[in-house]
Amino acid sequence: MSIKAIKTAVIGHPISHSKSPLIHNYWIEKHGLNGGYQAINIHPDNIRTDVQALVGKGYAGFNVTVPHKIAIMELCDEIDDLAKSIGAVNTVTIKNGRLYGTNTDAYGFIQNIKQNAPDFDFTSGRIVVLGAGGAANAVLYALLQEGAQEIIITNRTREKAQGLAAFNNKIIKVADWGDRNDICSGASLIINTTALGMTGKPPLTIDISGADNNALVTDIVYSPLQTDLLKQAQSHGFQTVTGIGMLLHQARPAFKLWHGVMPEVDKTLEKLVLA
Ligand code: ATR
Repeated sequence: MSIKAIKTAVIGHPISHSKSPLIHNYWIEKHGLNGGYQAINIHPDNIRTDVQALVGKGYAGFNVTVPHKIAIMELCDEIDDLAKSIGAVNTVTIKNGRLYGTNTDAYGFIQNIKQNAPDFDFTSGRIVVLGAGGAANAVLYALLQEGAQEIIITNRTREKAQGLAAFNNKIIKVADWGDRNDICSGASLIINTTALGMTGKPPLTIDISGADNNALVTDIVYSPLQTDLLKQAQSHGFQTVTGIGMLLHQARPAFKLWHGVMPEVDKTLEKLVLA
């Protein structure tokens, strides 16, 4: 008797740019599993009916990307504490017609740094977070989990940064966007969570030359892989971690939930998604 194919997907709008099918189908093949992963474009107006259709077709689960990460929460039967804290769901598992939501973005962010800068200590020094959108939410959650003691968040729209600082007002302080150069002075970790610097977006104008000599700089933007921020960091001798690993690592727990196997991020996969 053949084993039933495990159908999975990513839903978003637009979705054609998504690298997730490449990642999941690579692992499905590598582990010799019976299944497939598709990108499905769902217009925000149709999310309820289109998600119900996936349930009807027997999907094991799906990833959720822009702009549905918050809207999907209403459609979930259960949401775990992690996703509730982050305030967004990026992974849904379907069991017996019920939708279980979680979030793997914080995991992806941390694992990327742990794999590429294994000696980095999150518990000492000042951490600067640039931006206060959905990605910043997961990044802050992850930093607090790792025991960060001092975080400064700055965002063009200050109120959004203030909203996120409410996670932990003792550890997270808010700075004006105009002061972003100053707050980088002496920083041990600088994280860009904005879309600035991405191909087609405005540049991220910032001077990080004053950061700590051992500073680590990372960018969630991965197109281009070496952003101007990372290039600037390298020119000052700082350690850098590119954003592609966050995308790759956030996919791992989702794959495990659906297929029961925790896949690894290897060089072949990295090359495949960067090609
Ligand atoms: P999300 O849907 O996650 O909020 P987004 O709208 O693309 O994503 O914005 C992500 C981040 O990039 C936000 O912090 C945003 O700042 P605002 O909250 O002020 O919108 C930031 N961002 C986008 N364009 C920017 C720009 N031109 N200058 C400064 N920050 C910018």
